[in-house]
Formats: sequence, C-alpha cells, structure tokens
Amino acid sequence: MIAASEVLANASRVVVFTGAGISQESGIATFRSPDGIWAKFKPEELANINAFMANPERVWEWYEYRRNVVEDAVPNPGHLAIVELEKIVDRVDVITQNVDGLHTRAGSSRVYELHGSLLKHRCLDCETPYEISGDEEGVPHCPKCGGLIRPGVVWFGEDLPEYEWERAVDATINCDLFLSIGTSTIVYPAAQLPFMAVREGKYVIEINPERTDFTRYADLYIEGKSGEVLPKFIEELRNAKK
Ligand code: OAD
Ligand code: ZN
Repeated sequence: MIAASEVLANASRVVVFTGAGISQESGIATFRSPDGIWAKFKPEELANINAFMANPERVWEWYEYRRNVVEDAVPNPGHLAIVELEKIVDRVDVITQNVDGLHTRAGSSRVYELHGSLLKHRCLDCETPYEISGDEEGVPHCPKCGGLIRPGVVWFGEDLPEYEWERAVDATINCDLFLSIGTSTIVYPAAQLPFMAVREGKYVIEINPERTDFTRYADLYIEGKSGEVLPKFIEELRNAKK
C-alpha cells in the first residue's frame, strides 16, 4: 500500500497538477534537468515578448521545432492512468503547466493548460486564433489585420489565461485529493496551487523521482517516475473503492 486507504476510498474529486516530468517518458525534455530545455537555451532569449519582437523568425523556429517534437510524441502510461482515473472517481480536473497537449490527446476530459499550448497560435495584435497549415514559410501574418502570428504559449512576464486560472483555483479549493506530479514547483503563480491545497486542508500526494521545494509539505511523497507510479497508484485507488 502506497497511500492511506481511507483517503483513497473517500476520494471523489481529484485534482491532478502536472509539470514537464509527466511527459518525460514520452521523450519530451523537461526544463530544468541537466539535459533540459533551459540548460541549452536561456528563457530570456526565447520565451518572452521582447525576444519575439527582436527576432521573430528565431523564436518562431524554436517553437516550431518544439511543436514538431510534441506532435511526434505519444502519451505515456502516466497520462493514460490519469484518463483511467475518470472511471474510478466522480470528477478529475487536470491542471497542467505543460504546453504539449498530451493530456488531451490521451483522453482526459477536463484539462486546464495554464501555460497555453504549442499547438495553438494567435495574432499578436488582434488575438484572432490562427490555424497552422504546415505550408508557412517563416512567421505567418494574420489574415485579418496583417499582424505577426505568435505561439499560443504563456511567456515569462505574461499573465496566465484568466479562465484556466479561475478553474484551477476552484478545482483546488473543492477537491478532496490533490496530486502534484512531475513539477519542480518553482514557477509561479502555477506553483501556488499545491501549497493552496495544503492550506485548504486537502490531502496532497507528490509523485516525482526527485524531491522538490514542495516535498516536505506533501502528506505523502512517492518517489518515482510518473509512468511507473501512476498505473500502480490507480490500481490501489480502484481496490480501495471496492
Ligand atoms: P521542470 O523542468 O522545472 O521540472 C520537471 C520535474 O519533473 C522535476 O522536478 C523532475 O524531477 C521531474 N521529473 C523528471 N522525470 C520525471 C518522470 N519520469 N516522472 C515524474 N517526474 C519527473 O518543469 P516544470 O515544473 O513543468 O514555464 O516547469 C514549470 C514551468 O517552467 C514550465 O511550465 C515552463 C518552465 O519555464 C513556462 O515556459 C512559462
Ligand atoms: Zn490580427
């Protein structure tokens, strides 16, 4: 038994909060590992509006590269276990910092992408969504106003999408079990959520092969890769409910 069985038996509204670690086993690099994205590229050179304005082609190309990587990737047993969870409890809210769309592709029905998505684009000026055709050469322009098209991700210095953030806070306050999975828990405001869950008296489980700033606040820390831990965890939850 890896978790308190009465907590599992009584869990009905579950929040799953994820970071780059859940997609690591799908072959997508995390941000802060030694071979991670920020070891090779500096966020200030690529992931903010000034970088885009200074060199749109360069920033666009980098996001196109990452979009191609995630389009070639497939959901792993961790993503799939979270989908399975929907069959066991009343409600599952997936709150993710990931921009890879893999929770949705896996089949999770309620997903809030706090940092946007590599698969979405919009006009920098008029915000009209833009569908990538694949025939673009360089940065496309908005058919409506001629503005530059930007990736639909949240850059450093930008606010989180309001609707997603409100839903995330609401889900956190109203859950009875909160799982924090594969996140270093250092990028705010997203990282507030597990701490908020603790403050609200929720039972919080962290799953991560390494300890984080949050670990000592968790009710239970399960050390391991999410693709290995989650399928077992879901089985335990299923059994606890029998
Ligand atoms: P990080 O790269 O900061 O952290 C990834 C976490 O995943 C680490 O704690 C790893 O120990 C853990 N991990 C690695 N492999 C794992 C596995 N197989 N199973 C489970 N966990 C594993 O990524 P995030 O916490 O997602 O923001 O980073 C948060 C934000 O910082 C990102 O959304 C991005 C970045 O800058 C923006 O771009 C705005
Ligand atoms: Zn426009």
